[in-house]
Amino acid sequence: MASALGLLFISCITLSVVYGNSQIDDVKKYPDPSPQTRGSPWPAPKQMTISETQLTVDQATFKFEFSETEVCSILEEAFVRYFKIIFGSYSTSLKFSSWKTLRSNIGSRSRYSGTVSALQVVSPCIDNIYPSLTSDESYTLEISEKGVATLKASEVWGALRGLETFSQLIYQDGLGTFVLNATSIEDAPRFQHRGLLLDTSRHFLSLDVLKENLDVMSQNKLNVFHWHIVDDQAFPYESSTFPDMSMKGAYNAFTHVYTQENVKEIIEYARLRGIRVIPEFDSPGHTMSWGKAIANLLTKCYSGGKPSGDVGPVNPAFNTTYTFLQNFFQEISTVFPDHYVHLGGDEVSFDCWKSNPDITAFMENMGYGKDYAKLEEYYMEKLLNIVSGLKKAYIIWQEVIDNGAKVAADTVIEVWKGGYQKEMSKVTALGYKTILSSPWYVNYISYGSDWMNYYSAEPLDFNGTKAQKDLVMGGEACIWGEFVDGTNLLSRLWPRASAVAERLWSPASFNDTKLATPRIDEHRCRLVRRGYPAEPLNGPSFCGHEYVYHQ
Ligand SMILES: *[C@@H]1O[C@H](CO)[C@@H](O)[C@H](O)[C@H]1NC(C)=O
Ligand SMILES: *[C@@H]1O[C@H](CO)[C@@H](O)[C@H](O)[C@H]1NC(C)=O
Ligand SMILES: *[C@@H]1O[C@H](CO)[C@@H](O)[C@H](O)[C@H]1NC(C)=O
Ligand SMILES: *[C@@H]1O[C@H](CO)[C@@H](O)[C@H](O)[C@H]1NC(C)=O
Repeated sequence: MASALGLLFISCITLSVVYGNSQIDDVKKYPDPSPQTRGSPWPAPKQMTISETQLTVDQATFKFEFSETEVCSILEEAFVRYFKIIFGSYSTSLKFSSWKTLRSNIGSRSRYSGTVSALQVVSPCIDNIYPSLTSDESYTLEISEKGVATLKASEVWGALRGLETFSQLIYQDGLGTFVLNATSIEDAPRFQHRGLLLDTSRHFLSLDVLKENLDVMSQNKLNVFHWHIVDDQAFPYESSTFPDMSMKGAYNAFTHVYTQENVKEIIEYARLRGIRVIPEFDSPGHTMSWGKAIANLLTKCYSGGKPSGDVGPVNPAFNTTYTFLQNFFQEISTVFPDHYVHLGGDEVSFDCWKSNPDITAFMENMGYGKDYAKLEEYYMEKLLNIVSGLKKAYIIWQEVIDNGAKVAADTVIEVWKGGYQKEMSKVTALGYKTILSSPWYVNYISYGSDWMNYYSAEPLDFNGTKAQKDLVMGGEACIWGEFVDGTNLLSRLWPRASAVAERLWSPASFNDTKLATPRIDEHRCRLVRRGYPAEPLNGPSFCGHEYVYHQ
């Protein structure tokens, strides 16, 4: 079937070259036989009415028009970006210039009702603002049958989302003309927190790769970059207060670090795309790389009554630990503008703590008996107090709660383990806000169309009251870095994370993988056409514009 369609495609092009000068005015003789939808936005808008009226968009005359006399950098840069995204370099490629000649010869425009010559954008636009959990990303987009196109938003973030949708409505017909259908859209996200976790500790990711990924995130309407920036293996964050941490803890202190300038650059790049940057400094576990520079921060493990030479999690028994944390997070709270910091708290092994005599003495002093979860709670509480003292809110992994710790009421719990329905019930019954990532560990790859599993996971599918469900802020796709670096990040992630993006943006009723298949296929081809190495998801297929390797 697929190869038969492929043949048809090729023979049509041949035909049109041979008969290009004849008076053929029916473009239907040159169908694009691809199995994908055409001009269907991903993620799907909340409400959309598409008419059968088709309009053209002309690269030579089209422009974005802004309602105010002064435009802020967010929209100014977005207009330049979206012009390129819509018309891309492929429009002038050899293939398309020959199609252009064909078009003028056969007068393909006759079937279209008119031309969209501008998109009027009506939105506030202020510089120096950052997106936040409460950003309003809603917008309306109208393309009338007469070709008048208007995008309206009450915050600039909504305008950004609407520009993305507008760019996705436009497609090329079988002869390369840019076309869109008259459409009416009212859109707003279902969840406010739609994140993606990248791990820059197990493998370093260059600024270019991080930026490219931020571009694709915005093209999927994801709005939180959860930056798992350091871990056991490496500490690439170049701290201004503790420069030794990356000096001693990074894979390479000069080439494998994020300087203060780099971090600023990423935050700004993300801001211009309506994306929040939430850094994660995970402790008390996952901190081997921290200990290389900070003396006595990590617990010395004992064996047979003597230090074994190994170290374990951060040592909660020493006061110096909290002095360090105060100074370190003081810096973090000023470097990262978002209101939230992720403080980790996952996978703390108690074995080393159990072996250490200072900790045993501390446990006795505190009356904790043998309950090491109490010790973890003590540590987390002190850490959370330090960070809330710095006027930040925090996200932590679910173990902190699973171990019975009581944390401040405004703590956000990220659920990542299997059996998430039970955990979501439990966490929300305790009154905590939560984000879900368990079903969306996209680093676990498998053969076949695994995106369907991501797509089918429903964050509100747990037993709980309406008040409990209201505590679900959203979710995150996670791609951990053990087997991922700049060579395969984008292709492994996209468009698999797009499945998560639609789950978190679109109404819950978009849950049919059969209906989603031709749409996500179009979206993948759209990403490929835009220059990203997004993988095929659904077996044999082809894109109108195949991937062109670029540097
Ligand atoms: C756009 O218009 C064309 C031509 O009338 C129609 O075939 C197509 O189904 C429309 N697209 C959508 C998504 O409805
Ligand atoms: C550690 O801090 C606590 C509380 O501030 C204090 O009571 C204790 O004496 C300090 N311990 C040391 C060894 O300084
Ligand atoms: C909800 O509770 C019922 C009854 O205890 C149970 O049968 C069902 O599996 C639960 N559903 C989920 C999604 O956990
Ligand atoms: C999909 O959505 C429909 C409409 O909201 C709902 O009735 C149905 O139960 C959902 N199916 C699944 C598998 O969640």
